Amino acid sequence: MSAEFLRAGTIQELKSKGRLVVRGAHRPILVVEDGGRIFALDNRCPHMGFPLDRGSIEDGILTCHWHHARFDLASGCTFDLWADDVPACAVELRGDEVWVQPEFGRPDAAAYWRQRLEQGMAHNLGLVIAKAIQGQLAAGVSPVEIVRQAALFGARNRDGWGTGMTILTAVGNGLAALPEQEKYLALFHGIRRVAIDCDGEAPARQRSSLSSRPSLAALKRWLRRWAAVRHREAAERTVLTAIAIGAPPPMLADLFIAAETDRVFADGGHSLDFINKCFECLDLIGWQHAADLLPSVVGQMVAARGADESTEWRQPVDLVALCANASADLADAFAIGRDRGPWLDHTQLAQYLLGDDPGTIIAALTAAASEGASCADLGRALCYAAALRVAQFGTANEHGDWETAHHVFTYCNAVHQVLKRIAGDPEHVADYIEASRAVLHGALAVYLIRYLNVPPARLPAAGDDRLESMPSTIEEIRSALLDAFERQHQIDAAAHLVMRHLTLGHPPDLIISALAHALLREDAGFHAFQMFDAGVRQFGEWGNTEPGRHILVAVARYLAAHSPTERSWLQTADIAARLARGDQLHA
Ligand code: FES
Repeated sequence: MSAEFLRAGTIQELKSKGRLVVRGAHRPILVVEDGGRIFALDNRCPHMGFPLDRGSIEDGILTCHWHHARFDLASGCTFDLWADDVPACAVELRGDEVWVQPEFGRPDAAAYWRQRLEQGMAHNLGLVIAKAIQGQLAAGVSPVEIVRQAALFGARNRDGWGTGMTILTAVGNGLAALPEQEKYLALFHGIRRVAIDCDGEAPARQRSSLSSRPSLAALKRWLRRWAAVRHREAAERTVLTAIAIGAPPPMLADLFIAAETDRVFADGGHSLDFINKCFECLDLIGWQHAADLLPSVVGQMVAARGADESTEWRQPVDLVALCANASADLADAFAIGRDRGPWLDHTQLAQYLLGDDPGTIIAALTAAASEGASCADLGRALCYAAALRVAQFGTANEHGDWETAHHVFTYCNAVHQVLKRIAGDPEHVADYIEASRAVLHGALAVYLIRYLNVPPARLPAAGDDRLESMPSTIEEIRSALLDAFERQHQIDAAAHLVMRHLTLGHPPDLIISALAHALLREDAGFHAFQMFDAGVRQFGEWGNTEPGRHILVAVARYLAAHSPTERSWLQTADIAARLARGDQLHA
């Protein structure tokens, strides 16, 4: 039903005052005359809500007097894309009176805001992106659908996977557990980072699959061959062919990880981490988009340099040779242990993995496999060991060393996730032998960073005095934790508060939600999102057990070491939210 027209005033009044402002049901309406024509527009500047009747008009152009955005009076369209278009409404002359129809609704709000999101991302405009997310959520678009739009934009507009896509996936993974009001902020972080990554970048080059139908075994051999000689185009066509012939996700994962692990700890672990995140992104948005996304991680995989070119992996112990020799032993051990499960010694294996002799570490992994541990079991133990490196990170180290600890933990988490994915296909469980090399690489990466635990930070434990002196209710702990993140150097306080919450048996989801809140309100970097995402996933493996608590302590310590920040992202998101509510920001 159309809105009723409202009387704005007489033509004479309009001419004498230059402009009229009519109180509409939902917003004030500006009525102006220019060049003999009369126009009616929303009086709130679409940028940040400043009253447009305080602006100036010249040559058919309305200029807002806060940040000087300019608009075409006739259509409301902006000349300054960061400002958005002003909604206009119908004008009718009845005798010498001016009437306006206060109808600004868009026939398809979801489609409109979707297009605005595309434009905001194309021009890397933070406020436009935030408004478009707000608009889509208000129009009932699901958060996952918004992630899909942003992921496909990122895949099209950058020639390779970027950190933004990883952040988008990390926040997408956590969306279901977030309260409604935080979903918007999480989406804003992820989508804005994709836009930044694409800004000024060459778009993705489209390649097609082969028209033949080779076997998956042949495609796997070929992908390894092309990765070895760094032939990106050939590798992408091979991947696209595997998708075209209908390879299921576990087999696509196996294909990638076999080629990826032909190089030891390639690209410092980043390459495998990105591949895993790309898989997780497809889990979120649907594997029907595999051909759009998977080629984006091929370039980095084929270009990655292996640890064989790194001194620390070669001397004083040749860890690369150790891995090469151990991979055959590990394959034999899996064959011996295949029917011996279930194997439950993850915690004990993790302690072996924290040792200082690489030969003993490899032997412990091989022994576990021969006793019935699956590849995914090894990955789980590996992740706990890597999390303990972060949980016990000694603050006598340089601050930048947090990233060394973080890299190894997130790499190990990626290894664990891809191994679970591959092993999840029982038909092809024998094929994950190449992928299992990633466990060896991860274990030796954990070994190499043992210096970060010298001296080790003390883990909070039930019964220690400081823990017992902490607040005890859920609300008090949350408040104290968020307060700790307001100040620098509150690493131990954050660790104790998280441990306090968990040892008191409070619901783990609530402390994870507090950590999410602490993360999302900051200008958090790529690593903080990775750390949170990997930590929550690994906590999910253990639940509220001692290892699970240590993993969340690791997350809390890392986040506390990187808080607070300026919170400029929160401010932008807040401006968009307040504008959507109709707040007067200029007042
Ligand atoms: S330009 Fe109008 S509020 Fe900023």
